[in-house]
Amino acid sequence: MDKTTQGRAPRWQTGVAWVAVGLAIGAGACRAQPAPRYGQAMHEIGRRFEVLGRAAAVGRYELARYELDELNEVVEDDLPRAQAPQVGDLAGAAASLRAMQVALTSLQRDLQDPVPGTVRAHFAQVAKACNACHASLAHGFIQVPEELGGSVPRTDAGSLVRGVP
Ligand code: HEC
Repeated sequence: MDKTTQGRAPRWQTGVAWVAVGLAIGAGACRAQPAPRYGQAMHEIGRRFEVLGRAAAVGRYELARYELDELNEVVEDDLPRAQAPQVGDLAGAAASLRAMQVALTSLQRDLQDPVPGTVRAHFAQVAKACNACHASLAHGFIQVPEELGGSVPRTDAGSLVRGVP
């Protein structure tokens, strides 16, 4: 071995090492970005909307704002990559999704400088849009309460839709 190459890996070994690094990074990127499941994203949206409502009901607005920000992240980052059930009125569902986002923006504004009446009204407006979409996509039995503080989805007997067992 001459002096100039002493201590250095042969060229082919360096090449193999870079390919390995590239594959590892590629595999890592794939693992980090699996398509989210629609039901899982909805589960998180539901949980956060429930906590938001419970927090706002007792004036814990900072917590309510936090939950709303986290909910928006799911709506913006995960929902577009998840596959919604392809049943029912898809155009109606798309319209409800837009209505939900408009109402969420109003609710976010309210929570910056909260007036209990308007927080309640915009919470109900969001819930109506959630329910409209569930009805459009054949999941009308998943009902979101319009009042602050209820469980999401509703599990009380009073929430049963007529005709749904
Ligand atoms: C674009 C339509 C759409 C909108 C808007 C929507 N949902 Fe859903 N939601 C669905 C569908 C479809 C399912 C059933 C998902 C499945 O079966 O994979 C569902 C399921 C759920 C579930 C049950 C998840 C579980 O498995 O535990 C909850 C809770 C829920 N949604 C809450 C909400 C809340 C709260 C909102 C509004 C802030 C909302 N959804 C807005 C379509 C929508």
